[in-house]
Amino acid sequence: MKIAIAGTGYVGLVTGVVLAHIGHEVTCVDIDKDKIEKLKKCECPIFEPDLPELMSKNFDKLTFTTDCAKVYTTAEAIFIAVGTPEKKDGSTNLSYVYTVADQIAKYAMRDCTVVVKSTVPIGTNDKIEQYIIKNLKHNISIEVVSNPEFLSQGTAVKDMLYGSRIVIGAETVKAKSIMSEIYKNLNQPIIFTNRRSAEMIKYASNDFLALKISFINEIANLCEVLGADVEDVARGMGMDPRIGDKFLRAGIGYGGSCFPKDTKALHWLGNYHDHELKTVKAAIEVNENQKLRLIKKARKYYDTFEGLTIAVLGLTFKPGTDDLREAPSLTIVPILLDDGATVKAYDPYGINRFKQKINGDIISCETPEEALKDADICFILTEWPEIVELEPEAFLTMRRPIIMDGRNCYRLEAMEGHDLIYESIGRKTAGKGKTILTDN
Ligand SMILES: NC(=O)c1ccc[n+]([C@@H]2O[C@H](COP(=O)([O-])OP(=O)(O)OC[C@H]3O[C@@H](n4cnc5c(N)ncnc54)[C@H](O)[C@@H]3O)[C@@H](O)[C@H]2O)c1
Repeated sequence: MKIAIAGTGYVGLVTGVVLAHIGHEVTCVDIDKDKIEKLKKCECPIFEPDLPELMSKNFDKLTFTTDCAKVYTTAEAIFIAVGTPEKKDGSTNLSYVYTVADQIAKYAMRDCTVVVKSTVPIGTNDKIEQYIIKNLKHNISIEVVSNPEFLSQGTAVKDMLYGSRIVIGAETVKAKSIMSEIYKNLNQPIIFTNRRSAEMIKYASNDFLALKISFINEIANLCEVLGADVEDVARGMGMDPRIGDKFLRAGIGYGGSCFPKDTKALHWLGNYHDHELKTVKAAIEVNENQKLRLIKKARKYYDTFEGLTIAVLGLTFKPGTDDLREAPSLTIVPILLDDGATVKAYDPYGINRFKQKINGDIISCETPEEALKDADICFILTEWPEIVELEPEAFLTMRRPIIMDGRNCYRLEAMEGHDLIYESIGRKTAGKGKTILTDN
């Protein structure tokens, strides 16, 4: 099938490449000229494992362009995969989606199916369909289908190729059959619902996972007070198949382009309809506080960070991606800099973009070891493999080996015998260096 994809971000590009891989003729459209220039040369503009390989394997079935007019004229299906960021009040900014809707109304010259992959509030697909039909410039028939995306950055290609389900919100038999045809070569269960249910499945899924993370983080904080170990608690809970062990890792809170905005959007929508979602509200509040957890712990050792050299290991919101959206590092590092600390940071993929996003300067390090050398304290914010694999001795090159691990990278026993202080989330303080004194 001749398919157009609007937006070549994490979702649009992976969708385009996978649809080409399963046999479609795909044209990816973006307004970002630099991105499109790179893609035309088969260069992947984002860091996403397996994506460059699958893209180059299917390059003959992929076209990249900024010229949407030409593409939307003839496409049989147009996927909308542009961003839906949050507005200041937590509601969803749909302006990018409506720009594409406008362009489709203007340029489409054959009957086509508009597939909304972007995460949009419940009822949006209905409105987009009405909007396009009202503004159509040619005498054609279009139908909007909701097809929310469940991939995770870092495993996006695998998630799309071998996903647990494909959700299709369609209102007619014809739309269902077109969507079945598009996905027929992906061997995955398809769940057909109406458009509003499909939209809700996406929000309810993300908000449930966010809630699970906030729940274990609250339990972790209480474990610290009561002398329990959250790793053991999560292990014991996770073996119960009714609970499951996924998204049960305590840490410094969720980030990324989805959970923060999707929790706020559903909460906003609930309030708008006079139906507050109290559990979602709690998940949001717990997460905001959790991002500050390490700072609070570090203040036990230093009243102020002024004049200190601080090693920060990991900046992206999780390993396996270069994405920094809503990463806890964006909350934590500015606090350190504002206090007057010198920050030496290591991240394999996120450092350059991070520097562009913050006010103030940080020192980029090529390795975790370089960041640690002569530091007064260390913050671990992302569990990249090379950070998890550090031996305790690696921290002994610090001026004061005080480690604030926001991702529980190491076993307490491994740290216990060493001359350092190891603080993590939901566990007791470890290390022989409990008496390391500060002179400020
Ligand atoms: N990132 C994820 O892990 C993920 C997972 C599931 C769902 N989603 C949802 O998918 C949507 C896209 O997310 P993303 O992370 O891929 O966004 P992104 O910001 O990475 O990419 C969006 C792209 O759309 C382009 N764009 C903007 N306006 C355009 C237009 N008029 N025509 C063509 N291109 C245009 C931008 O230049 C950008 O390249 C969002 O609604 C998001 O909530 C994201």
